[in-house]
Amino acid sequence: MIKEKIIDSIFPWEEDIPEEFRLKKGLIQREYLVDGELRVWKGRMHEVFSPIYIRTSKGLYPKALGQFPMLSGKESLQALDAAVRAYDNGRGIWPSMPVSERIRHVEEFTFRMHEKKKDIMRLMMWEIGKSYQEAKKEFDRTIGYIKNTIEALRDMNRASSRFVIEQGIIGQIRRSPLGVVLCMGPFNYPLNETFTTLIPALLMGNTAIFKPPKLGVLLHYPLLKDLQESFPPGVVNTIYGDGKQVITPLMKSGKVDVLAFIGSSKTADIVKSRHPKPQRLRSVLGLEAKNPAIVLPDADLEVAVKECVGGSLTFNGQRCTALKILFVHTAIAEPFIKKFIAEVEKLKVGMPWEKDVTITPLPETKKAAFLKGLSEDAKRHGARVINKCGETVNKTVFYPTVLYPVNSRMRLYHEEQFGPLVPIAPFEDVETPIRYIIESSYGQQASIFGNDADVIGGLLDVFANQVCRVNINSMCQRGPDIFPFAGRKDSGEGTLSVSDALRVFSMRTIVATKEREKNKKIFKKIVSKYK
Ligand code: G3H
Repeated sequence: MIKEKIIDSIFPWEEDIPEEFRLKKGLIQREYLVDGELRVWKGRMHEVFSPIYIRTSKGLYPKALGQFPMLSGKESLQALDAAVRAYDNGRGIWPSMPVSERIRHVEEFTFRMHEKKKDIMRLMMWEIGKSYQEAKKEFDRTIGYIKNTIEALRDMNRASSRFVIEQGIIGQIRRSPLGVVLCMGPFNYPLNETFTTLIPALLMGNTAIFKPPKLGVLLHYPLLKDLQESFPPGVVNTIYGDGKQVITPLMKSGKVDVLAFIGSSKTADIVKSRHPKPQRLRSVLGLEAKNPAIVLPDADLEVAVKECVGGSLTFNGQRCTALKILFVHTAIAEPFIKKFIAEVEKLKVGMPWEKDVTITPLPETKKAAFLKGLSEDAKRHGARVINKCGETVNKTVFYPTVLYPVNSRMRLYHEEQFGPLVPIAPFEDVETPIRYIIESSYGQQASIFGNDADVIGGLLDVFANQVCRVNINSMCQRGPDIFPFAGRKDSGEGTLSVSDALRVFSMRTIVATKEREKNKKIFKKIVSKYK
């Protein structure tokens, strides 16, 4: 079979790699940023291997990309001390700096970041297997997010400089920072989902410790010096290593005020539980999901298939917002499946630098085996792999696999696959997907495909109280970034968007006085200082 042959020889010889994407030598990162210093680590290092294998005359080998430090709790606590000192109970240079000044620092960093675009994108492709076009999208989106956040902050600041007079009291309501923020992003959007919390946290006057995800560490290395030179000492500190070693002591200290974490609910629960006074900890969490698509009998096939293929398989299905189960009405199941499989067959499987590639190597070790396990379990309970090359695997490349008919006895019905497995569950009564959403542990988004406004409206009434975004005739997605992004149940805590993030990393403080002439004069003089 042609596709099987392709997957057999999917990995390149070193000389096949286009010049601009080659990694000349390994990147050895020994530095970590604490208190404005790039300290050099002399201890244990972690070896980074790419999910991309290289063909040699002796067989396939994963490309060695470099190393990063495995810090201990000691260095992690030094980073915490630096952040605490820089915050200085809200009296530090950074939290007391005028907003316009903080914006200037962030703009300087963004300018420098732009210059590292090619390096960051190349590393992202090698480290997590993200395609060139998706890596570019992630980079550009991150820059756009920072710019929009700055604009939103300027607007917020203008609004908060106004006075409110109510019942003889004059008040000015403004937003103040919370303290020390611990930022941890996920491997699938390592740059974007780290900076969509780190940047708003900094802009609001907090200081931060940032730990890159387990996979996708080296791609942050080109920015380390820029972080050092763009911000005052202690405002941004970076740590690397095993979560138990470096995160547990931070949380146990009780000195982390905000936890910004995008990852699994299991890890989030563990990290949160380490804080000695949980009521003091604000959490902003983006967690796993199992977003369903509901394809109704009158759905426009063309649209439903296109959106469901993109929704379930973009970047190998490794998006928290991916469509992870497709409920298709039996009246439309046959033509839907036929068209769906035809579109899946067209997806290009290959290396991240190949033009129009969708399916690329998976970065998580043992992921292929995990996906295979889900698929085997589904087959044991009556599903079939219905696309020709489904389940074909070569090391880290897993050919997209469509399983049908999927039912509630299968793990794949309930568990998040976060990979290129597409379960299709037929239904006759719309109550089936409704029960699914109600009983699911997750509550991020859902997609409804159909044309009858009354039927869609009826579903919307139920879904709106179960998930945080209902997409009509469109796949699930986070963007545009000015839209609120949140999750119910095990899918998240708090809301992120360009403007929501600024709120999440701050709290309102009111300056108030009784409306008397003398007070007014003092008041005006004092508050003008905070602009
Ligand atoms: O993995 C979660 C991302 O926030 C998804 O973003 O829906 O725009 O791809 P996206």
